[in-house]
Amino acid sequence: MKLNIGVLPGDGIGPEVTAQAVKVLKAIAIEFNHIFTFDKALVGAVAIDKTGSPLPDETIEICKKADAILFGAIGNTKYDDDPDATIRPEQGLLGLRKALDLHTNIRPVIAYEDLLNKSSLKVKAIKDTNLVIYRELTGGIYFGEQKLSADGNIASDTCEYQRFEIERIAHKAFKAAQSRKRKLTLVDKANVLESSRLWRRVVKDIAKQYPDVKLDYTYIDNAAMDLIINPRQFDVILTENMFGDILSEEASVIVGSIGLLASASIGDNHVMFEPIHGAYTKAANKGIANPIASILSAAMLLDHFGLDEEANRVREGVDKSLKLHITTPDLNNKYDHISTTKVGDFIEDFIHNPDETNLNFTNIHLGQSTII
Ligand code: IPM
Ligand code: MG
Repeated sequence: MKLNIGVLPGDGIGPEVTAQAVKVLKAIAIEFNHIFTFDKALVGAVAIDKTGSPLPDETIEICKKADAILFGAIGNTKYDDDPDATIRPEQGLLGLRKALDLHTNIRPVIAYEDLLNKSSLKVKAIKDTNLVIYRELTGGIYFGEQKLSADGNIASDTCEYQRFEIERIAHKAFKAAQSRKRKLTLVDKANVLESSRLWRRVVKDIAKQYPDVKLDYTYIDNAAMDLIINPRQFDVILTENMFGDILSEEASVIVGSIGLLASASIGDNHVMFEPIHGAYTKAANKGIANPIASILSAAMLLDHFGLDEEANRVREGVDKSLKLHITTPDLNNKYDHISTTKVGDFIEDFIHNPDETNLNFTNIHLGQSTII
């Protein structure tokens, strides 16, 4: 298969982790005879520094031409502390989601057996968690009208949804549930918000077309609690933009590190794959950023194009790295100094040599002199 992939490393740890995902995709191309080409483009704070815009026109062009986009991270602390900044890195990501109409964001949350004790939650509560969050990505409060009064004392953000925006993601979420445990939970705040009541009405209607899927509803405050008390009760969670942002970050506690959660953003004409973590500016260029979320995002890219064997090879490489403790410090209490690049190298090597356990390679990269 020929794929042209737009690569937007972005800010902070984005470039380091994205480089590992690209490395992994290149290894897959070699092993499985594909032609993947990569077109790099600027986005976020680095784009502001170089061009004055967080989303230069050239970046949109590259993304529109690409078959898929691999996105790194966005944000820089210098903007976080300045509420008066009118140009912000995040506008790059939000602008891209809107320009490409990436309405459906898919965030799987799977508790790895080998990492259960890395979570601050109880092992018995999180064991066997396997859920997926369908987060609406181009509507709601993120994109509604924003106002600030002339005297600077009143501000508002509007949360607006239209029926079709709810319908298109709901269909995708129901279909996903059909191929999973056939359960869909709509998370909203229908006891307070009009927009949530529209979600309930529309989703209830659509549910009639999926009689094999059990639909239930829960309020966001309750879902926030249930998600960490008993995450196994969930299969597919469907929710609006802001609730999905918050719940998915909370869900990272289940898997032990936010550096593990990947996502796919799907539109009718474009697709983008990105880790759910942010730019983590203070960790940049130290080699401590976990590349697995980015590598698993690349696996979701392969899934999207039906390259199942390829995606599985990547996931097996990730599993192996976790099993052998070839992981960055956020997960590692066995070895010191396993860098972002070393994790990428290990998974790349696994893709080429999946049959060997590669202990030799492991030891070499761990700097241990072992003759096997
Ligand atoms: C995410 C991020 C973004 C969001 C930020 C960086 C704008 O937190 O993808 O979860 O809020 O959607
Ligand atoms: Mg977020």
